[in-house]
Amino acid sequence: MPHEPIWTPTSPNTVIQGDNLNVLRELPDESFQLIYIDPPFNTGKVQKRQSLKTVRSQEGTRVGYKGQTYETIRGKITSYDDSFEDFWEFLEPRLEEAWRLLNSSGTLYLHLDYREVHYAKVLLDALFGRECFLNEIIWAYDYGARSKKRWPTKHDNILVYVKDPKGYYFNNTEVDREPYMAPGLVTPEKVALGKLPTDVWWHTIVSPSGREKTGYPTQKPLGVLRRIIQASSTEGDWVLDFFGGSGTTGDAARQLGRKFLLIDKNKQAFDTMKTRFTRVIDAEEEAQQIQFAKFRKRPVRLIEG
Ligand SMILES: C[S@@+](CC[C@H](N)C(=O)[O-])C[C@H]1O[C@@H](n2cnc3c(N)ncnc32)[C@H](O)[C@@H]1O
Repeated sequence: MPHEPIWTPTSPNTVIQGDNLNVLRELPDESFQLIYIDPPFNTGKVQKRQSLKTVRSQEGTRVGYKGQTYETIRGKITSYDDSFEDFWEFLEPRLEEAWRLLNSSGTLYLHLDYREVHYAKVLLDALFGRECFLNEIIWAYDYGARSKKRWPTKHDNILVYVKDPKGYYFNNTEVDREPYMAPGLVTPEKVALGKLPTDVWWHTIVSPSGREKTGYPTQKPLGVLRRIIQASSTEGDWVLDFFGGSGTTGDAARQLGRKFLLIDKNKQAFDTMKTRFTRVIDAEEEAQQIQFAKFRKRPVRLIEG
């Protein structure tokens, strides 16, 4: 029996509680200009034994976008690291959906850290195509304890891939700028304007006592999301974040006049987003409509949050 689509490009801004893979499979092709995701590394899956992985990678039964090449690369890389294999097994089908859901001028931002990013870069080159790799953004922050046994790790990595290297949208002239490091060396006009960010972004984490804080443990700063959205989408475009967490992507999208779809399976995340958006809607005169829904697997049921 045909069912109501869970989301269409004419829907209002939407927050869905549910497993993202189930939801993503319901969404129509090429519907999003921008996808940002910040997946959890610890997916909670039981790790598999080394021998199983080797057998499977040699079989190479799955046909990826790049066919055998991708299977071979995947087998070799994931056999080095048990926990990364679990992570990739979880992420891979979701990335395939992300690729399908991006429109032809669209961009994917994948937020990781130094432990995963190098494996992920090679795998994404194979999955999306190396020519679709646009940037690796380093988000550098300075917070917390400093190791004395190695260089303290104070950055995250955001891999940026476009759907079509010849037709993607990118406009960094509109992005929030940053202060010059040596303002004495440039004109006062330039100091006032600030400088265009490079691929290294210095930005504080969400302050534990600041206004932005929602209390959700992995909340990312609005400033980082604002830049991403400003550069890779225009007003009215749809932005998708299917590891929504506290809803930072939606909040930044809303501020910038983009539309958003956020998905998270966790009730705490859903409740946090509800509170976060309800607060801003209450605070703003021209309230933008937002629908909150819970997703149950087939038959598809959208239950008002
Ligand atoms: C690192 S947090 C994202 C934080 C977010 N960027 C923010 O600024 O608040 C990852 C989120 O992914 C969610 N998640 C993990 N597995 C999921 C799945 N299969 N489907 C939907 N959400 C999932 C978790 O509940 C968690 O909220």
